[in-house]
Amino acid sequence: MNPGRTPLIAGNWKMHHGGASGVELAVAVARAAALAPKVEVVVAPPLLAIPLIVPECAEVARQLRCTPIGVAGQNLYPAPKGAFTGEVSAEMLLEAGCRWVILGHSERRQYFGETDEFVAKKVVAALAAGLGVMACVGETLEERTSGRTLDVVLRMVDAVAPCLRGAGARGVIAYEPVWAIGTGKVATPRDAQEVHAAIRARLAGKDAGLAEATRLLYGGSVKADNARELLAQADVDGALVGGASLEIGAFAPIVRAASELA
Ligand code: PGA
Repeated sequence: MNPGRTPLIAGNWKMHHGGASGVELAVAVARAAALAPKVEVVVAPPLLAIPLIVPECAEVARQLRCTPIGVAGQNLYPAPKGAFTGEVSAEMLLEAGCRWVILGHSERRQYFGETDEFVAKKVVAALAAGLGVMACVGETLEERTSGRTLDVVLRMVDAVAPCLRGAGARGVIAYEPVWAIGTGKVATPRDAQEVHAAIRARLAGKDAGLAEATRLLYGGSVKADNARELLAQADVDGALVGGASLEIGAFAPIVRAASELA
């Protein structure tokens, strides 16, 4: 972590907790976040739960006199409105109370065919509408074992970096090695730091201010027992957490670890 950047811990719920259980979990996260004022905490619930969650979290924040947790969409379509059946726009997420959106997650790339170019369009649309962006990058196991990790990751970074210029703290890149997502296989803190440092250097080569301001999250099997070591790395500014964000008993210790290091 770096004292110049606020640590960010985000929970990507994927297709879990779409209703009442999501409200319950979000309220518990909001309470845990109140104990970690130096950490920015975000949850990314399924779409239908968002309008239920936003007011509940605002109410917890009012009672505890703290900043409300952020709520993120998990995807969007890069047009403000129109004939795009099944899609949601940045403006709609914003109106529902989201402040963030996760874009280019490897599951979107893998199952829904999202390309670097399409992800970049989404990043532009999200920032223009006023959302913060967590843009995901990461290599597959095959790419890692064949020594192409940095080629792949930096190609993905190059696609979104120009769009993140001027975004400041609203611009976030999440390094999520695909082989570590949901597998229990976590990158070693050293491997994570190596890739994060390479991403930071790539950004610095384009724009020093961009490299300073952009927060870099690690994602892929982050749990209570490995979070601290990962978050202690110089270029790791937070975590994007999947499985361990689905229960408060697993997520709260990750928020606490960030708070202790902040
Ligand atoms: P995981 O997922 O923590 O379950 O590995 C991370 C993610 O997909 O964002």
